Amino acid sequence: MDRPLVAGNWKMNGLAASLEQIGLIASGMDAALQGKVDVMICPPAVLIAQAAWKAKGGAVQIGGQDCHAKPSGAHTGDVSAEMLKDVGASAVIVGHSERRADHGESDAAVKAKAEAALRAGLVAIVCVGETREQRESGTTLAIVGGQLAGSVPAGSAAQIVIAYEPVWAIGSGLVPSVADVAEVHAFVRKQLAASHGAEGAKMRILYGGSVKPSNAKELMSVPHVNGALVGGASLVASDFLGIVGAYA
Ligand code: PGA
Repeated sequence: MDRPLVAGNWKMNGLAASLEQIGLIASGMDAALQGKVDVMICPPAVLIAQAAWKAKGGAVQIGGQDCHAKPSGAHTGDVSAEMLKDVGASAVIVGHSERRADHGESDAAVKAKAEAALRAGLVAIVCVGETREQRESGTTLAIVGGQLAGSVPAGSAAQIVIAYEPVWAIGSGLVPSVADVAEVHAFVRKQLAASHGAEGAKMRILYGGSVKPSNAKELMSVPHVNGALVGGASLVASDFLGIVGAYA
């Protein structure tokens, strides 16, 4: 297993002045911490080039929040994986539940985006997770299993990261119980090993949804939780470093 990954997803938040947070995160990571955990910030598309420039040579990697499946062409407003790579990103989030909901992204569309990421030489962070209704009706594992089967392309553990994010836990302050996180992560691991063999057994599986400095240590110690995807708490360096510090 590679080092765990703590990735911050700024979503549609942040202006140029927010890039200062990336410098603060980088300077808050000592050599010991750098050896234990990979750290990434995914700013809005318009800030990625500047963010990558600012982060160059340091401990913070930069990722995108979405990409188009095609490398270029007549797709007004979209950004390709190749463009993200060109300006210094090393990864891209695909299939976040907000994109699945706001833009009607299907599993097949998410898979095509993940394949585009691999084609461009980016790590694909593929998001899956159930809604509150699905959790309450007892279909969580079936939903997550279907999303994994439909959204995760063929690839290696170095190229693909999975993020399990219960939709109802995102931005809500609600977090599943440790037992529920453990159940889903063990299920994801088993399915990845079945579909991707030895590579699937090594892929990092992040937990996301209301991760904060106060709950990071407990969540990060759950078996098969190999890091975090962090929204709100990634916007301020001290909060984000508090989560990264779960690996100190
Ligand atoms: P949150 O978002 O940490 O604000 O809950 C997580 C995410 O959507 O990736």
